[in-house]
This record gives sequence, structure tokens and C-alpha cells, in this order.
Amino acid sequence: MRHEILEKNIGLMALLMVLAVSVGGLTQIVPLFFQDTVNEPVVGLRPYTALQLEGRDIYIREGCVGCHSQMIRPFRAETERYGHYSVAGESVYDHPFLWGSKRTGPDLARVGGRYSDEWHRAHLYNPRNVVPESKMPSYPWLVENTLDGKDTAAKFKALRMVGVPYSDEDVAGAAEAVKGKSEMDAMVAYLQVLGTAVKNKR
Ligand code: HEC
Repeated sequence: MRHEILEKNIGLMALLMVLAVSVGGLTQIVPLFFQDTVNEPVVGLRPYTALQLEGRDIYIREGCVGCHSQMIRPFRAETERYGHYSVAGESVYDHPFLWGSKRTGPDLARVGGRYSDEWHRAHLYNPRNVVPESKMPSYPWLVENTLDGKDTAAKFKALRMVGVPYSDEDVAGAAEAVKGKSEMDAMVAYLQVLGTAVKNKR
């Protein structure tokens, strides 16, 4: 009988459905906010330097995340190829995170240190320079564009508000650290630090 009342009252049913789904969802989500393995940075993780952070922003601007994930799943096929699977504590300073979901190219979560800086420069300038069959677009303007650093300190401050431990000295020196460097310098600095906090067991 009572069930009939529910079935004939779509408003009430919708409300109770939302309630049921919320309880299910929240019991999974809320505990994560209090779990150290999810919230605490892994040992050795350092906030991005000014140059690395600018590189990361260029990575976002250029849409690299549309073709590259940064999330190694705990499957043998992935760990054999890319190294240790990704852990949550590696991403605590990433706002927003760039895990991605599309892999037109390889995962980049542990690309840091895999190639030389020169390789990356040649590759980003024109991927066909080093990988003849590559389908990746060229980014030659990264060499020409120079950073002025006028927003770098503000970016540090914004990240500090969400918990990234930048010091006052970091903020004060942020602009100077990137001024005059090319976008290519920044991008390579960023790529070379990716995944290096966790020892790469390959
Ligand atoms: C249209 C898809 C696409 C986009 C966009 C793209 N890539 Fe790629 N990327 C690829 C493909 C495919 C490969 C594999 C062939 C190669 O190495 O060039 C690759 C390879 C790479 C590699 C070598 C990875 C390895 O482990 O060998 C790096 C580093 C890389 N890309 C960085 C970037 C960066 C940085 C950007 C943004 C500026 C970017 N990619 C944008 C498709 C893409």
C-alpha cells in the first residue's frame, strides 16, 4: 500500500531516489576527505617550481591532456610499460589534476627523466624529428614565446590558498624565476619532473 503511494507520486519518488543515491555516494566519498593516503603528499613530493608551474599551465593551454593521460593504472600491462602505478599522494599539489582519460599518445605520469631535455625540445618542436611515424602536432611557437612572469606570483598565492606550501620567498621570487625563459623551457621543466617523486621501478 505504502509503496503504491510512492509509485503514484513522482515528486516524492524522485526525492527519495536522490536521497538513496546520495547516501550510497557520500559513504564512499566522505571518508576519502579524512584518509591520509589520499590527502598527504607522498614522501619527496615538492610543489612545482615557478618554471614547472608555468609549463603546466602551457600544457593545459595547449590541450595536451586531450591526448595524454597522467594516470598509470595498477595493471601489469601498464606498470611494465610506464613504471609504478599512480598514487593519490602524488597529485595533492595538482589543481586542477590532469589525470585525463584519453590516450591518443602514451601516458605521461612518469615521463620525467625518461628522455633528455634535448629530446623533448626536438620532439615538441616537431615530433617527426625524433619519432618519424608520430601523429602528435608540432608546437614550434613554444620556442618563440617568452614568459614575462607577471602572473606567476599570483598563481603561487592562489595555490597556497588551496594548501600548496609555497613560502613568502617563493612568491617574492616567482616572477624573477621565469622572466625571459621561453615557453619551451617551462614545458620541458614540467615534463621532466612528472612522476619523479615516486621511485620509478622499471
Ligand atoms: C593529437 C594528439 C596529441 C596531442 C594534442 C599531444 N600529443 Fe604528445 N603524443 C601523441 C602521440 C600519438 C605520441 C606518440 C608518438 C610520439 O612520441 O610522438 C605522443 C608522444 C608524446 C611524448 C613522448 C611520450 C613517451 O613516453 O614516449 C611526450 C613527452 C608528449 N607526447 C608530450 C606532449 C605535450 C607536452 C603535448 C602538448 C603540448 C602533447 N604531447 C600533445 C599525441 C598527442
